[in-house]
Amino acid sequence: MMSHLSCRNIHKKFGQQTVLEGIDFSLDKGECLVLLGPSGCGKTTLLNILSGAIAADGGELHLDGEALDIPARGIHVPMRQRGFSMVFQDFSLWPHMSVEDNVSYGLRIRGIKRQERIKRVQRVLEQVQMTEFKDRHPATLSGGQQQRVSIARALAVQPRLILLDEPLSALDARLREDLKSEIARLLKDNGLTAVYVTHDQSEAFALGDQVALMYQGRIEQMGSPQEIYRQPRSRFVAGFIGSSNLFEYRRNGTSLILGDEIHVPMPLETLPETGHMVLRRESVRVVPDSSQNAANDEICLPAVCHHSQFLGDRHEVLARLVDDTLVRGFADDLINPGHPVEIRFSMHAMHFVER
Ligand SMILES: Nc1ncnc2c1ncn2[C@@H]1O[C@H](COP(=O)(O)OP(=O)(O)OP(=O)(O)O)[C@@H](O)[C@H]1O
Ligand SMILES: [Mg+2]
Repeated sequence: MMSHLSCRNIHKKFGQQTVLEGIDFSLDKGECLVLLGPSGCGKTTLLNILSGAIAADGGELHLDGEALDIPARGIHVPMRQRGFSMVFQDFSLWPHMSVEDNVSYGLRIRGIKRQERIKRVQRVLEQVQMTEFKDRHPATLSGGQQQRVSIARALAVQPRLILLDEPLSALDARLREDLKSEIARLLKDNGLTAVYVTHDQSEAFALGDQVALMYQGRIEQMGSPQEIYRQPRSRFVAGFIGSSNLFEYRRNGTSLILGDEIHVPMPLETLPETGHMVLRRESVRVVPDSSQNAANDEICLPAVCHHSQFLGDRHEVLARLVDDTLVRGFADDLINPGHPVEIRFSMHAMHFVER
């Protein structure tokens, strides 16, 4: 299948500063791509290039085979001709217009007839559950309600592509939780192709068919949420996603030495001589004494509890290994600091990163 949206080797500089460096991805129709990454990594800049608000310096951008941006050939389709919708963190509603007028405005300037406008506005307001507020003005609505209106406005024009820049960041935690799954559902119900910017991992996992983790103007890794989580390719990805323990290792005959002096059996034959190993927090079991039986493939290391905190369903423990390395894991029961423990993990839980 031909990809719907295709981004090839996109570059952007602001003055001397390179902000995007060789961005490459493609996205199929109906898929949602989440751009995830720390502040300043270039997410908004990339979204602005997709929308046409700013022009790329180099590379090629196509949608359905139509060239939108090819600086080398002087091609730049302006924003208003692209037929995209945008949703922003600050809602950006017209303050002097009612909810209904905010939603129908974009349809009017696109020359859509009155009958069709009324039908569409009604449908999208129903979809975001804002029908009863249609005569209100934005200033009289809560943040969550305003964001629903701005999403309705984006859906009403039936865009070829919808671009969302941290739409939930201005809302409180509970509301974010609710709207997150609602947006995911609305995108799918309307068959929309979307690019969604966030620095929140849980939003990325809830919404993304594909997640592109960005760092310093590049895509570090792109894949399904499961791939990004389970098979991080670099230390940056492993550290940004989830909560991981990171070890330097070197090979020594048939074993690996973690840190200075922790010996563990070698899980793979083909490992480089030295490198980094990632161990997810949830793969590490902390037991208060070594009397409990370990599973066959489990590695057991002596340690001392350094700190523990109650999470509700279990305890998170930070334990100190004999070489002073700290390892994070979970325990079923309360363990007090200073108490000797054993940390246990399956050989197969060790994941090796390339860089
Ligand atoms: N118009 C501009 N002129 C100069 N520099 C800019 C401009 N817009 C962005 N930058 C710089 O480009 C880099 C990337 O900015 P961008 O807004 O794309 O980051 P971001 O990933 O969206 O960050 P955040 O999560 O904080 O929103 C930053 O260093 C920023 O200072
Ligand atoms: Mg931004």
